[in-house]
Amino acid sequence: MKIIVTGGAGFIGSNFIFHMLREHPEDRVICLDKLTYAGNLSTLESVMDRPNFRFVRADICDREAVDQLFHEEKPDAVVNFAAESHVDRSILNPGIFLQTNVLGTQTLMDMCLRHGIGRYHQVSTDEVYGDLPLDRPDLFFTEETPIHTSSPYSASKAGADLLVLAYHRTFGLPATISRCSNNYGPYHFPEKLIPLMIANALNDKPLPVYGEGKNVRDWLYVEDHCRAIDLIIRRGRAGEVYNVGGHNEMRNIDIVRLICRELGKPESLIVHVEDRKGHDMRYAIDPTKIHRELGWLPETKFADGIQKTIRWYLDNRQWWEKIISGEYMNYYEKMYGSREILPG
Ligand code: NAD
Ligand code: DAU
Repeated sequence: MKIIVTGGAGFIGSNFIFHMLREHPEDRVICLDKLTYAGNLSTLESVMDRPNFRFVRADICDREAVDQLFHEEKPDAVVNFAAESHVDRSILNPGIFLQTNVLGTQTLMDMCLRHGIGRYHQVSTDEVYGDLPLDRPDLFFTEETPIHTSSPYSASKAGADLLVLAYHRTFGLPATISRCSNNYGPYHFPEKLIPLMIANALNDKPLPVYGEGKNVRDWLYVEDHCRAIDLIIRRGRAGEVYNVGGHNEMRNIDIVRLICRELGKPESLIVHVEDRKGHDMRYAIDPTKIHRELGWLPETKFADGIQKTIRWYLDNRQWWEKIISGEYMNYYEKMYGSREILPG
């Protein structure tokens, strides 16, 4: 199989490339990535010289570049991870989210149709379903849950999903969609909750919890997500949506306390700051369909996954220290500098 992975220099895309090269050494993997602030070529260093791997720097919105690459490589499948992925940034600047997440998806699908590509896979998110109330632990997102978004990020991802389903129905594009819950693991950009808290704690900096920290996320180790996508592109049915999640719901404040404990840092580092606008309360995935149809189950328990992740950040300090010493700090100042600190 020859597969183009867009956004492969980011968190999940890079883990997916490692997974594919390890599990399917006979496959050829081509990574197309614009290298935005979130893309990091050093992440792919260990595979750069493999004969069955190629990296191309390009924007998924650039029709000519995508056309040229599809013409050269004639891939069997395209897996689209490329996106603006951070909710807080979408509140600061929604435009780039629509550009990349919606129009970029359209460009990729147009080129898949033009080149007769056998499978297009859209990596989507559970955030397209909106949120669930904290007092209804019996409710979960299924593939039939209506789309109901809260942030410009989730609205852009939902827009892309609807377009994918429309391209399938109208033009017969052989497309699948996966909607996964929150991932964690190596190479997670330190603007997101878990790596940000690990990096700040290691530097004895304040740990900024939004509001009371009672919001719940459903955490999945990144390798389990990669296995799910691998299964879907090989055995999933075109036109179908697959939810991916491991029934591992945790409150933000409990995650941050756990990180303090694991690193031997005092909880007095925790500060409660002004809440995220439109902040979703709870995400919780029902993964019955992917289990029943494709036999997928998560393999990494949270207790093990979080230890592996913390170990990785301890062992790979230069990877994240380079990030937090550069341009990213301008964003950090903008996001947290003027944020009101809540009492208590
Ligand atoms: P990330 O921000 O770490 O990486 C995104 C990558 O896309 C970067 O390498 C970036 O350079 C690249 N990119 C951005 N715009 C591009 C463009 N216009 N053209 C080409 N490349 C571009 O994101 P992530 O956390 O790895 O998420 C990957 C995908 O998975 C996204 O589509 C996201 O919506 C989805 N997702 C993420 C999670 C999560 O918990 N992180 C959960 C479910 C779904
Ligand atoms: O559910 C899947 C989604 O998970 C993906 O689609 C997104 O791409 C990914 O970024 C993630 O979105 P979240 O908004 O859930 O992740 P984030 O790490 O930004 O925040 C997790 C929770 O932690 C959320 O409730 C907000 C809170 N938070 C986050 C940050 C960065 C804090 O309390 N403090 C912080 O500094």
